[in-house]
Formats: sequence, structure tokens, C-alpha cells
Amino acid sequence: MEGNMKKNIWINGQDVETENYSDLLSPYSQEKIADIAIANKLQTQNAIQVAYDSKEVMAKMPAHQRAAILEKVSQLLEENLEEAAKVISLESAKPLIFAKAEVIRTIETYKFASEEAKRIHGETIPFDAAVGGVGKIGYTIRNPIGVIGAITPFNFPMNLVAHKVGPAIAAGNTVVLKPASQTPLSAFFIADLFKKAGLPDGVLNVVTGPGRVVGDAIVESDLVSMVTFTGSSSVGIALRAKAGLKKTTLELGSNAALIIDEDIDVTKAIDRCLMGAFSNQGQVCISLQRIYVHEKIYDEFVSQFAKSASELKLGDPLDPETYVSSLISSNDLDRALSWIEEAKAQGATIATGGKTVGNILEPTVILDVTNNMKVSCNEVFAPIVSICKVSSVEEAIDAVNDSRYGLQAGIYTNSVVNALKAADDLHVGGVVINDVPTFRVDQMPYGGVKESGTGREGLKYAIEEMTEMKLVIWHKG
Ligand code: SIN
Repeated sequence: MEGNMKKNIWINGQDVETENYSDLLSPYSQEKIADIAIANKLQTQNAIQVAYDSKEVMAKMPAHQRAAILEKVSQLLEENLEEAAKVISLESAKPLIFAKAEVIRTIETYKFASEEAKRIHGETIPFDAAVGGVGKIGYTIRNPIGVIGAITPFNFPMNLVAHKVGPAIAAGNTVVLKPASQTPLSAFFIADLFKKAGLPDGVLNVVTGPGRVVGDAIVESDLVSMVTFTGSSSVGIALRAKAGLKKTTLELGSNAALIIDEDIDVTKAIDRCLMGAFSNQGQVCISLQRIYVHEKIYDEFVSQFAKSASELKLGDPLDPETYVSSLISSNDLDRALSWIEEAKAQGATIATGGKTVGNILEPTVILDVTNNMKVSCNEVFAPIVSICKVSSVEEAIDAVNDSRYGLQAGIYTNSVVNALKAADDLHVGGVVINDVPTFRVDQMPYGGVKESGTGREGLKYAIEEMTEMKLVIWHKG
């Protein structure tokens, strides 16, 4: 990637200059990467108007054409995989191994979107089941909803854009996208691929700038029919309050938990727990934050896990050997450190980590944690995991559910009874049996309960959210 580029906002297939630009810095090296446009309210409203004016083009575009554009984006991304991974890594400090994994998923996400574009259909209704319906036949169709406002986070800057733009276009909608301020380059990278793939101008518009200006203009606009947002619970809740009657899909925070039953082979779970807790520095909505381990294997698990965590390689995200790099900002690092100190002051102990190496927080394992400490009850979004001892799966399920979040949870067990109990009783959007909660493939339904959000992503499910059902009734007589 060339250094110090200038990125304008992208409206109607054109670069549009703004009055002000901000410096985009690498979270790891603090070196300047680019100048990023700061849009004002009027420019955001222009983008929304353009998306609104392009609605007809998309609503009339046949499914096979929408599918072909999405397929082409997937193919172009595959051809540019290495460069795309570097963009992600550079702007977000996601270690290259995880950035590549994200691009591979993004390629699949657009492929799934392309396939789902050809499968949008309704159903026939048995009208004569009602006395008053005799003599009628009818069916439902699914129409595009219109303009979709997509507000995306920094932690998966390419694939979470795909989870919004992919289904929106598959369903025949238009989009105004506001990427996270720290990770606009991944979004511009994708917008460029859409242009090359033949998406008509005006269908995808990318506007960068502060949430309170750009985000608010999108959420408050009468021309926007739906807002799809991934980010913190506090921002999501505030957004919903402003959105009025617009549809909203909110993928929010969590403090995802894992239960480890007494009968498992600890060694087999360690690598997955390391990935779950520390990939992308714990900045994943389903990052493994709380582990509840049966007392019979607690000591063995803690010693193996803490040892392996202390051996993970820290460093430059662009080094292919690096497993853990910097958090997205120094504010987040300070917050994480202060929560560790607070937990220690309240009686927690550190099994490993808890300190910084340069601006990188070491993978941190905390013991003697109670459910009311911030490192447990808030979303940490940092490489910090707590391990608690439990005497039964029932006790662990109660502890997992004692949370204002509910995105995904996991259980390792060899007992079918305990697996079924967890599937029934864990109050979350997804239960993972014999793996960590940090599991997602992109076609599966994904979303949470409680403060983890509303609605579901995963292409088929997102398309349902992004279309409106219309009923057609025929009188036969
Ligand atoms: C998220 O952090 O919300 C997304 C996690 C993923 O897609 O793996």
C-alpha cells in the first residue's frame, strides 16, 4: 500500500472532497497512514439522497444481475487477498494471520450473498382454510426495503461491511455506509471492488466522519428505511431511540462465556480457548471473556492455559508470526489496564499477563474474579480472560446467564445430558457444544438477546431483515 494517501468520501460513484481531513494513524506504530475525509451533515444528506434516488435501479435489477455483481466482488477480492489483508492489518493492528482469515471469510460472505440473491422468495397462502377465504388464492413476495444505513465497527473492518452491504445488495437495496473512524480503508477498498464489478453509481455510498454527525444524519433521515449497526451496546441503544419507526438490526456487545465440564481432555480445549480469548487482542464481540471450569480439572486447566497464554508472540501486526498486537487505541489500553487494577484491588489475582510490552497488553488471565467486577460483567474488548471454579454445570449456567449480555456461549462436555441442558438453559443467541463461543461462519444466523442486540445477520437471515413482505391476493371468481 502506498503511504500517506488521501481518501475522499464516495458518493454516486465519485470521489467527493470535504473541507476537513483527519490523520489516520497505525494503532501499532502511530505512524500516519492516510488523510481521511470528515464529512459534514449536508454531505451525508447528499449521500442519502443519492442512495434514495438509486432505489429504482436496484429494485428493478434482476436477481441474476445482483448475484453476478456480488460473485464478481468475491472473485476480485480473492485476486487481491494479500493486499486486502495488509490494509486490515495496517489500519486496525489485527495480526496478519487473523487479517488473512478475515479476508478469506469476506470472500465467502460475498459468495453466500450472491447465492442468496437467487433464493429470495415468498410462499403461497391457503386462503380457503378460513370460511371467508374460499374463492381466493394468494402468495407473498419479498420487496427490497429501500435505503439501508450501515454503520460498521473497527474489529472486522472488511467482513462486517460485507455482512451489511452483501445482503443489502442481494436484496435489491441501496446503501449509505459509515465505516468506523479507525478503519475506513477496508471499506473504501471494497467500494472500489464494487465499482469494478459493475455496481451502478449511487447504489453504494461511503461517508466517513464522526458518529454524532454522519451516524446521526443517517439514523435520523426520513429517506433511510433501515439501519444496520454493529458496535457497543450503549451506542446501539441510543441509536435505536433515535431511529423512530425504521427497522434496526443491532449486533452489540457481550462478555461471552465458556463452561468446561469435569470429564473433558483439557489439552484438547487449550488451543481453541487461546484463539477465543486472544485473537484480534480480544476485540471480538464473541471473544472468550469468562471461563467456568469444573473444580475437578480447574488447577490443571489454569496451569496449562496460563502457560500457553504467556508463550503467545506479541509484536508488529504485519509480522506473520505475531499472535497479539496493539489495541485499537491508547484509550482502550488505559481502560483495560484500569479494569485489571480495579479487579486486583477487589481481590482478583493474575495468573499471567496484566502488563504492557510497548503499547501491547500481554494476554492476561485473571483468577478469583466475581461476576460484578468490570473485567467480568462489562465487555472487556481486550486480551483479558477470567477463569472461575464451579462445582456443577448448573452452577456454571447460572453464572453465564448472570449477565446483561447474551450473544453466544459454549460448553465442553462429554455428557449429552449436560450438553442438552446448556442448549436449553443458556440465555444467548447461539450455544456452541464442544467448542468456544468465539465461533462464526458467515452463513449461520448470528445475533444476540438482552443487551447483545436485536435481529440476526448471516446472509439468508439478514436478507429477511432487509426485505418487506407483501401479500398478493387473487379472487378466482
Ligand atoms: C463481531 O465481533 O461482531 C463479529 C465476530 C465475527 O464475525 O467473527
